[in-house]
Amino acid sequence: MLRFLTAGESHGPELAVIIEGVPAGYNIELEAINRDLARRQKGYGRGGRMAIEHDQVRVVSGIRFGRTFGSPITFIIENQDFKNWEKRMSADPRDSGEAKPVTRPRPGHADLAGVLKYHLDDIREILERASARETAARVALGSFARQLVAPFDISVLGYVVGIGNIEAAVPAELTIEQLAKVTEESPVRVADADAERAIIAEIDQCKRQGDTLGGIVEVIADGLPVGLGSHVQWDRKLDGRVAHALMSLQAVKGVEFGKGFGAARVRGSQLHDEIGYDPVAKRFTRHSNNSGGTEGGISTGEPLRVRVAFKPLSTLMRPLRSADIKTKAEAVGTIERSDVCAVPAAAVIAESVVTFEIVNAFLEKFAGDSLAEIARNYRGYLEQLRNY
Ligand SMILES: Cc1cc2nc3c(=O)[nH]c(=O)nc-3n(C[C@H](O)[C@H](O)[C@H](O)COP(=O)(O)O)c2cc1C
Repeated sequence: MLRFLTAGESHGPELAVIIEGVPAGYNIELEAINRDLARRQKGYGRGGRMAIEHDQVRVVSGIRFGRTFGSPITFIIENQDFKNWEKRMSADPRDSGEAKPVTRPRPGHADLAGVLKYHLDDIREILERASARETAARVALGSFARQLVAPFDISVLGYVVGIGNIEAAVPAELTIEQLAKVTEESPVRVADADAERAIIAEIDQCKRQGDTLGGIVEVIADGLPVGLGSHVQWDRKLDGRVAHALMSLQAVKGVEFGKGFGAARVRGSQLHDEIGYDPVAKRFTRHSNNSGGTEGGISTGEPLRVRVAFKPLSTLMRPLRSADIKTKAEAVGTIERSDVCAVPAAAVIAESVVTFEIVNAFLEKFAGDSLAEIARNYRGYLEQLRNY
């Protein structure tokens, strides 16, 4: 199984991610990872920071001549903005007088709970790590993981299905490839031109009013075999693992699979996915996919479908009421440079973390120290299913 840690502050010199448990024998295309990092930087409604950054991974360990060989992989992503923060984010105690402490916590951020918990008197020491800048490392990780299942025809896609109270339709006739193309071309990552126009107008209006917007992202994973994850233990359930990963993202307030909360409002007869059998393909089939692709924490072989709710961003240019942590006087939240809406980027990030969890469950099921061994285990399992 893969394990990982990320490190780095938003305005520090760089972000780092170490990935352990990587099988040998995979050719890794770094440009594909950089393309996903660029996808995360796009989207209507972002602030000035994305114009400064040009995210790219630098490999420090674990890849030789383009290939994995079993060692832990370390990726570094430089923060271009660090050059504007060198003294204020310095590790050198002699620079400690260079930064004015941030003392007015912003409602909705980790600011207040963080300084109280860590007994700090500068909110910057919380906000730098709580920042969604960390998600650049998560995208590098997911994009790398995607390459570990590329030989097995698994595809994962994230896109936007709503921003604020504007819903974007998803045309049912589109294949996942077509949906990927359409949403990639949209500045707000939707597949609905009318909704796109309305969303852009809403973002513009929010910007003028110093306000922010959230939204809902959908992630679909196609090509999963039946049998990823397990019912036998709480922390092996695929849906639980995917939900944990998504809830760990900044600004996420809700996760639902398939019909999700809607499942609670209908009768069982209207919900559960009836079973059939295709004798030609020699496989069990489903008449619907209301479960969202898992039952008992195990993938069913139907596409995994999960929706994620992102709250409106917490830094408002027309700030909310707060209290100064030093003087305890009434104040308003600090203004940091900020986005109006980051939901289009959040779709790429959600796609990345779902990919990582699926790949991890895949590697657990078909465990091997090399691509050759994993491919053998995978083929053997498909054969076993056909002969069931
Ligand atoms: C892609 C992305 C970009 C974000 N950009 C900002 C931002 O510019 N300004 C802001 O106040 N919050 C931003 N956030 C949200 C905060 O990072 C997040 O709300 C905060 O860290 C508190 O964590 P929590 O909402 O998970 O409790 C962003 C979140 C995501 C996913």
